[in-house]
Amino acid sequence: MSLRIAVLGSGSGSNCQSIFNAIDDGRLDAEVVIVLSDNPDAYILERARQRGVRAEVMDCQGYKNKFPLEVQEALAAQLTELKVDLVCLAGFMRLVKEPLLAAFPRRILNIHPALLPAFPGVEAWKQALEAGATQAGCTVHYVDAGMDTGEIIMQAYVPVLPDDTAATLHARIQVQEHILYPAAILSAISRL
Ligand code: GRF
Repeated sequence: MSLRIAVLGSGSGSNCQSIFNAIDDGRLDAEVVIVLSDNPDAYILERARQRGVRAEVMDCQGYKNKFPLEVQEALAAQLTELKVDLVCLAGFMRLVKEPLLAAFPRRILNIHPALLPAFPGVEAWKQALEAGATQAGCTVHYVDAGMDTGEIIMQAYVPVLPDDTAATLHARIQVQEHILYPAAILSAISRL
């Protein structure tokens, strides 16, 4: 039976698209049953709608960064009801806490645009560039209550080129992300 995935994102959703693509070309025996965003204008919602996947907005009660616990509790109940096996964060900009973590132990994944544990947090590719790193990359990891601190599942390296700008580096990292995330999901599935 194919695995049931929920995707949470706040932005463009190119990583969500890479999951759709991996399902369509048979790399991933899974179904995305719902896409949720905290941002009503996020293109990730449009990608889901175009595919006929349920797309919903989470109302974070006007908080800019906080992920209110009662919203997480309601989400945990909804995803349990939908019999979701795996929750994939794909550019989701809020920290997941106990209500969700407890409902989906070792079943929440995140993709981060740096070689963790180096450069957690926002705009990690920019942090790498500013630190003068020669290697950048991306990481898929299990989510814990910290920021980008959970156990690493898979990583991909991306060299930093001498003339890289934040935009060119991020673009090359994203190419690798789109390969890495479906592969890491497959790896996580095999460990369930
Ligand atoms: C990616 O770079 C991901 O690593 C980070 O946020 C970005 C989301 O991009 N967490 P997209 O919305 O999947 O295009």
